[in-house]
Amino acid sequence: MSPADEQRGQFHFTPDTYAEMIRADIPLYDELQRRTIDAIPFAPDRVLELGFGTAETTQRLLDRFPQTRITGLDSTPEMVFKARQLGWEDLRLGRMEDPLPDGPWDLVIAVLSVHHLDADGKRDLFRRVRTEARALVIGDVVDAGPEARVASLTEGFDFPSSAADQAEWCGGEVVWEADDLAVIRAVYDAQPEERGAR
Ligand SMILES: C[S@@+](CC[C@H](N)C(=O)[O-])C[C@H]1O[C@@H](n2cnc3c(N)ncnc32)[C@H](O)[C@@H]1O
Repeated sequence: MSPADEQRGQFHFTPDTYAEMIRADIPLYDELQRRTIDAIPFAPDRVLELGFGTAETTQRLLDRFPQTRITGLDSTPEMVFKARQLGWEDLRLGRMEDPLPDGPWDLVIAVLSVHHLDADGKRDLFRRVRTEARALVIGDVVDAGPEARVASLTEGFDFPSSAADQAEWCGGEVVWEADDLAVIRAVYDAQPEERGAR
């Protein structure tokens, strides 16, 4: 088994052990989740979550905004099966690289999933999201230089880009950074109450 397959197996094909392993690999995992939810610019009605995994972000999003309707997309069948067993409903098996579920979306959110796309893949995703979403929030591992590296990365599987590049590509801003983690937010069409506040 190649290192990339091993990593996929560890993090992506075994939802039962994912939570423990990701927290060992990314000590600021819970803070990243919190900061990502904090960055949501307005109470969203319809949300598309990319790479929902064990639905950690999904649950936190619903805790903060109980009226939200969330559609989840993930490319790992085991994650989709497990999350459905746990009661999550609108979950789709699919890849971010392919056409996304039909919007429009108040918010597209992705935690620790966009770094699986290379730079061209990210730019393409951001371009497609922008036509369908009022806001985009990403919390992810980024390229912050070798001194900042905490998360273990697998060549050919993890492709972190810098936070600044991603902010530029999606037309957004970096709202939080620590070690090799960042939260990036883009608001394309603010809701009325948010327009007043900005
Ligand atoms: C590191 S996990 C993050 C899971 C969750 N968002 C979290 O914060 O814990 C990455 C998730 O993204 C999914 N994923 C990876 N590449 C993907 C792609 N190209 N399209 C859709 N989902 C993908 C994986 O199956 C996995 O569930």
